[in-house]
Amino acid sequence: MIYFDNAATSFPKPDIVYDSIMKAMKEYGANPGRSGHKLALRLSREIYETRELIARLFNIKNPMNLIFTFNCTEGLNIGIKGILERGDHVITTSMEHNSVLRPLKALEKEGVELTIVKGDLAGRIDPTHIKNSIKKNTKLIVTTHVSNLTGTIMPIDEIGQIARENGILYMVDAAQSAGVYHIDVERMNIDILAFPGHKGLLGPQGTGGLYIREGLDIKEIFQGGTGSISHLLEQPDIMPDRYESGTPNGPGIVGLGAGVKYILEVGIDKIRKHEEELTQHFIEEALKIDKVKVYGPLNVKEQGAVVSINIGQEDSSEISYILDQNYDIQVRPGLHCAPMAHKTIGTFQQGVVRFSFGPFNTHEEIESGIKAIKEISEQV
Ligand code: ALA
Repeated sequence: MIYFDNAATSFPKPDIVYDSIMKAMKEYGANPGRSGHKLALRLSREIYETRELIARLFNIKNPMNLIFTFNCTEGLNIGIKGILERGDHVITTSMEHNSVLRPLKALEKEGVELTIVKGDLAGRIDPTHIKNSIKKNTKLIVTTHVSNLTGTIMPIDEIGQIARENGILYMVDAAQSAGVYHIDVERMNIDILAFPGHKGLLGPQGTGGLYIREGLDIKEIFQGGTGSISHLLEQPDIMPDRYESGTPNGPGIVGLGAGVKYILEVGIDKIRKHEEELTQHFIEEALKIDKVKVYGPLNVKEQGAVVSINIGQEDSSEISYILDQNYDIQVRPGLHCAPMAHKTIGTFQQGVVRFSFGPFNTHEEIESGIKAIKEISEQV
């Protein structure tokens, strides 16, 4: 089996992730932050440790400004819907996932003004187009860090600078970059950062998080039990409780902490270098195959470990099915929940076959993938 679908969910995970989840469930899987007994306190401590580890990874000064969510989509919804109100203007890009575009489109119906800056054929965004779109009522800029379709790395430093200079909030969707690329919320002027736990951070599904800059007043989506200030009927406005109602995914968060610990130990530079080498290898070989079209910047300094291809005019789902059934290679075909990004690069009708690499893929696996693509392209 060769797993090339890490952009959807990384697989496999480091053993410490599986082990720590099992341990949390078997040895201290009580309800954190509620009862004051030993098991509850142990899980609360472990959850806090994950908060600290993630804060270290993203240079978040106060770990309490980091809230846990069930995935990146939840974080994006909290940030987008908690900030924007009727009459506000927001700028985003055509390379976004539906987890950004759908909440924005829903708000547009309620009177929020939306500008979508278009990417080029390789999915690149020109920051001056963002700058030129700023209006008096622009409240928020939201962009992805790395496209889940073309792997294009967005100029988030420049965009953060533009946002800062114009007094506009900047929100980053780190779905494809957290755990692989350096993210420094201070240096990059990121006010809100949403990330999944189950991709580059090597945690389980059902985990994710949202960083909210100190002092930023974002409306919460849910109200409920927080285990704190329980004598009041109003939602507490303390962090992170305001945004963390109900029992969290405790064992999952412990597993996420183990994934982050693994990344900090191995080193993010080493992980990125490995993924860059795999990506470079794949792109170079794929470009040599007749009938194969490769999308994206085709340069690992501009492209994350996500490479989309097509074979002639063949249906992307059909190719993906053949890869799975005949070669035991797992990839993701279709539109990748990013229809506007597909329109941007001209693949809306055909979709693409997306290969996405992770820290445990090898160059031998890349060779096998290339061999499979070559054989399929000779048969269709
Ligand atoms: N957003 C994930 C992907 O791109 C699921 O596949």
